[in-house]
Amino acid sequence: MTITVIDQSNTKSNLCEMPAGPCAVVIFGAAGDLTKRKLLPSLYNLRLNKLLPESFAVIGVSRTDKNTDSFRDELTTSMEEYATRPFDSDQWDWFKDRIYYLKGNFEDPQSYIELKKLLSSVDQKFGTQGNYLFYLATGEDYFKPIIEQISKVQLHQCSEDQWRHFIIEKPFGRDLESARKLNKHLLAILKENQIYRIDHYLGKETVQNILVFRFGNSIFEPAWTNHYIDHVQITVAETVGVESRGGFYETAGALRDMVPNHMFQLLSLIAMEPPTTFDADVVRTKRAELINAIRPLSYDDVQTSVVRGQYDKGEIDGQEVQAYRSENRIAKDSTVETFVALKLMIDNWRWVDVPFYLRTGKRLPKRTTEIAIQFKSPPACLFRNTTVSHLMPNYLIMHMQPHEGISLQIGAKLPGPLLQIGSVQMDFDYQDYFGPSPSTGYETLIYDCMVGDQTLFQRDDNVEAGWKVVEPIQEVWNSTRPLDFPNYAAGTWGPHSAKSLIEKDGRHWQI
Ligand code: BG6
Repeated sequence: MTITVIDQSNTKSNLCEMPAGPCAVVIFGAAGDLTKRKLLPSLYNLRLNKLLPESFAVIGVSRTDKNTDSFRDELTTSMEEYATRPFDSDQWDWFKDRIYYLKGNFEDPQSYIELKKLLSSVDQKFGTQGNYLFYLATGEDYFKPIIEQISKVQLHQCSEDQWRHFIIEKPFGRDLESARKLNKHLLAILKENQIYRIDHYLGKETVQNILVFRFGNSIFEPAWTNHYIDHVQITVAETVGVESRGGFYETAGALRDMVPNHMFQLLSLIAMEPPTTFDADVVRTKRAELINAIRPLSYDDVQTSVVRGQYDKGEIDGQEVQAYRSENRIAKDSTVETFVALKLMIDNWRWVDVPFYLRTGKRLPKRTTEIAIQFKSPPACLFRNTTVSHLMPNYLIMHMQPHEGISLQIGAKLPGPLLQIGSVQMDFDYQDYFGPSPSTGYETLIYDCMVGDQTLFQRDDNVEAGWKVVEPIQEVWNSTRPLDFPNYAAGTWGPHSAKSLIEKDGRHWQI
């Protein structure tokens, strides 16, 4: 995450361009969806933003039968569908000429010998100088064999003037034990500063803005404590079901899929202590400290503070949708959860007695990701002898998607002779202010990996801290079958118990 302070009188037009240094990107699993939907459109956007180096190349590696020409043709067609910015054929021609394909088996040593040869000819042709970004867009099972094979041909070794970085995609394990094992495998060959564990939530502009909002302004941070904040709600709601990913989802569920990763990224950014600098490791240490400060959940806590749900058939946007158990590749008696809500407490000085309510689910009424911070009511209601009997709390709401912005709800006098107070909203909308900036969400992350900035990536301890918090939930759920599944209709806000989870504390969900 590159932070540049720009002239505030000219905020909208003053965007800076600092292209990354020479490098080649090698994508393992290049025939998969991620390459055409996200990775190529992101690299292309980086080119349009003048952030790619001139000395650049991409090599796709996959088992699928194709060659460089057919790969280039396929990507040209898929770009028409997935490019987020208008297609510029001159720019694309520049880009296309730098794309190569290598058919190879991830476990076959011969493939890596060929890869090494291809990289060295690309270095010569395009001046990529032996700097390589390896993107493992493959299933988790391939991380270990790919990295082992790369190390056998010595492609993993950095030197003073050559870097070798590895991006891996979640899931990073399926529980604490497997996450530790994965970290051990990675670190047996690579150094932590070569590993970029990507969480695409940290690529979202508005998620990054949490840090700037908190630490780049002086008016909010003094109120960012249990003295002024009553509680925090984090909602990641999706309208989609499991789509074509039934097989994967049956082994994951909402808890594993969303909580220790995406939701804890949001939680750690909103609640972490101020870092002393914006160095990657300083920020990542603060994030890990915060997750480590979450009060461990006992067996009873899991019963009272965590809710799981699975969707039944229902209606979303006027369309009938089927139950989870009727979706493709889902067991008819599946006990996998598609919804989770939980209340967490953070045992540190700042957050004593401030609950954090988190919820996420599929087939909810609307797609939205937002963080709502409810401030405490004023200490006294001074409007004696008026119609004002109680004061509404202030809310600060950070909208991550699809709407991107920040709203502040405040009390205001309603017009007229009587003293009456209503709730009004001050809104900052990213798009209104800065104009649309169509991106895939991967641009910043890929660029950061090229320039060696790990701030927005998960370190090994960040990953393990997240799994540690959810471990007791996994243990209790594994041993108790949910007898009420399916327990919410598609198109509703989850099971009734999710409402009670917050209402029993005298609070309510903001949406
Ligand atoms: C992925 C999960 O990591 O994030 C998906 O595996 C989920 O199940 C997705 O749908 C949500 O991402 P976004 O960016 O659409 O909120």
